[in-house]
Order: sequence, then C-alpha cells, then structure tokens
Amino acid sequence: MDNKKLKIIILFGGKSGEHQVSLNSAKSVLQAIDRSRYIVQTIGISQEGRWYWGAHPDHLLNENLPISNTFPLVTLVHDPNDAHFITLDGTKIPDNGKFDLIFPVLHGPNGEDGTLQGLLELANVPYVGCGILGSSLGMDKDRMKAVFAHAGLPQANYLTFLRSEYKNSPASCIQKVEQTLGYPCFVKPANLGSSVGISKAHNSAELQEAFKVASSYDRKVVIEENITGREIEVSILGNDFPEASFPGEILPAKEFYDYQAKYNNAGSRLIIPAVLPEALSNQLRQMAIRAFLAVEASGLSRVDFFVTADNKPLINEINTLPGFTQISMYPKLWESTGINYNELINRLISLAFERYKDKQNNQIAHKE
Ligand SMILES: Nc1ncnc2c1ncn2[C@@H]1O[C@H](COP(=O)(O)OP(=O)(O)O)[C@@H](O)[C@H]1O
Ligand SMILES: [Mg+2]
Repeated sequence: MDNKKLKIIILFGGKSGEHQVSLNSAKSVLQAIDRSRYIVQTIGISQEGRWYWGAHPDHLLNENLPISNTFPLVTLVHDPNDAHFITLDGTKIPDNGKFDLIFPVLHGPNGEDGTLQGLLELANVPYVGCGILGSSLGMDKDRMKAVFAHAGLPQANYLTFLRSEYKNSPASCIQKVEQTLGYPCFVKPANLGSSVGISKAHNSAELQEAFKVASSYDRKVVIEENITGREIEVSILGNDFPEASFPGEILPAKEFYDYQAKYNNAGSRLIIPAVLPEALSNQLRQMAIRAFLAVEASGLSRVDFFVTADNKPLINEINTLPGFTQISMYPKLWESTGINYNELINRLISLAFERYKDKQNNQIAHKE
C-alpha cells in the first residue's frame, strides 16, 4: 500500500429488522477507524432502502433529524471499470463519488444475505466481509443447516416447512413437529437475525402462534428441538486460512437470548474468555473454522454453539456480519485473543483487498 489514504465508504442502516443494530455497530466503527490511514465517507441507508450520502448513524437514529432534505440520495453506478456513486439530484460529491473500498456494517436481509454483495460484485469493487454465497448460506438457517450436516458438524434436530405448506395443512405440520421434535421447540423464520420472529413453543397452541409469527417474516420456517446448554461463541477472521478466537459465553438475562435480552437488557452478560476445559475450547475453535469454510465465508464471522451439560458441542449458527460495536462479542473475543478493535478494522480492510486481488486472477472468457 502506498502512502495515499484509502477512501473507505461505510454503509449502515438498511432495509432490515436489524436496522437499529447496524446503526450502533456503525457508530463504533466510525469512532474507531484510523483516519490517518483512511478517508472515511458514510452512506446511511434508510429503512425504506434509500441511500443518503454523508448521513451519520445519529441522523437515522433520531427522527427529528431529517435526512431526506439534508443529505443527497445516491446510487451506485456499477460499471465494473468505473464504479462510483452519483447523486440523484445532481449535487456534486467529492472525487465524483469514487472510492477504494466499501465496508458494509449492515446486519440481516439486504446487507448480510448476499443481495448487497451481488451489487458490489457487479460493480467489481473491494468490500469487507463475505461474498454472495457465504452471505446467503449464512443467512438462510435451513440451507446453513444442510451445509453443516454435510460437513459433519453436530447440531440440533430440525424440520423446515414452507409457509404455503403450513397454510395448506397446519394440522399435519403440527403433528410432524410433535412426533419428531416434541416440546419445547424453537420456531424461527429461516432468513432473519437478532432473534426477530423467533418463539419458544411449549404446546400446540403456542406452536400455532409461533408458526404464524415466523411465517409472517419469511416463506420458510425452521423448527428445532430445544437444546439445554450454555451458549458459546467463537469469532473467525481470515479468508482461505481463517483463524479462530478464544470462545466466549453468553448468559442471557431471559429464558432465551431474544431481541430484548440482546439489545435492551443490561442483565445479559458476556464471559470472555468462556470458562471451558482446554480440549473443548480447542474443539469449538476447530468446529468454528470448519463451519466458516463450509459456507465459504470470508473476512469475518461469528460462529455460535450450544454446549450441553455433558460438554457436547452443537453448532447453532454462523453470523457473517456479526454485531460490531466495541462491546459486541465479535470484537471483544478478538481483543481477548490479542487483536484490538482498531487493528481488527485494519485487518478486515486488508482481507477485503486480498480477496479482491485474488478474484482478479480469474480468467473470465475461455481462452484457447
Ligand atoms: N434449538 C434451540 N434450543 C435452545 N435455545 C435456542 C435454540 N435455538 C435458539 N435458541 C435461543 O434463541 C436465540 C436466538 O436464536 P438464533 O438461532 O441464534 O437466532 P438469531 O439468528 O436471530 O440470532 C439463541 O441465542 C438461543 O438463546
Ligand atoms: Mg443467534
């Protein structure tokens, strides 16, 4: 890298149930990113999916700060040889909207699921985090579990139903759950995060309600047997040769780690590093790397596990753009493993360039 400062675009907000979570993550990144190395430009994405050039997370957090009259709307011109942003109203922006790299600090659908990554691939620009495949596999709990099963990773028993299937024959879906998984069970929309739309059903009435809630968010509903165990998480950093952090433990303040417990309840605690026998800790770190490679993730991910009373690890999920505030599990685990928040941002940016450069080696057309 030469001495020229790199121009980094931080993208946050977004059309997702995790809009708010993204604003908090982005605030932390903006506070910590090394401005002696990077020129930082923000783009705030509203809940309607509009991109505002120069908006700060506070503008999206606070309804009294009108963004639509203050910041120009922009769109990405995805010309692979000249990707840049343009304003929709013709306002001039610095460097004609050119940039070196995009850092998506977005969680959930439209940011973490491969859609944004597809746009950035078309534009042929470097960006932080996973590509299309890793992102979409990481978002879809049903396909994620199929890939984990194929990779031989132990996990809870589960069933997947289409919304249409449940609508056509609710009784047979309920019966199948009762015969295969029993109560309590966890009912989840296949594509979401931050526990949005997830319920724990203790009987058939609750299961019916849970089906209704989960299927209002997605066309697929995943149902899992209840696992009684500790919740342990491992952070991964890297591309083709990823590294795993020490594991951390979550002590949810409520019956399960739902949206309230995650973001609004100070009673939930993180124990970093988790107190575990060394062999189990190593096993979890190895499993987390296998999960990362199985979904073809890159850059970063947090891999979440349950550990049962007899110390058996079961994988729960991979999050390809995990919560990224200074006090979130992902960066805290790296801090305990020797990489501070500031350095983590630098590493993610260099990993993005590494992957981008590697991709430029691909031959596009068939050559004789
Ligand atoms: N099969 C399960 N058994 C026990 N608890 C579960 C199970 N699945 C989820 N949970 C609880 O619900 C929380 C959210 O579920 P998770 O699958 O991680 O969804 P999200 O992608 O929204 O984080 C977990 O952190 C855990 O507390
Ligand atoms: Mg989770």
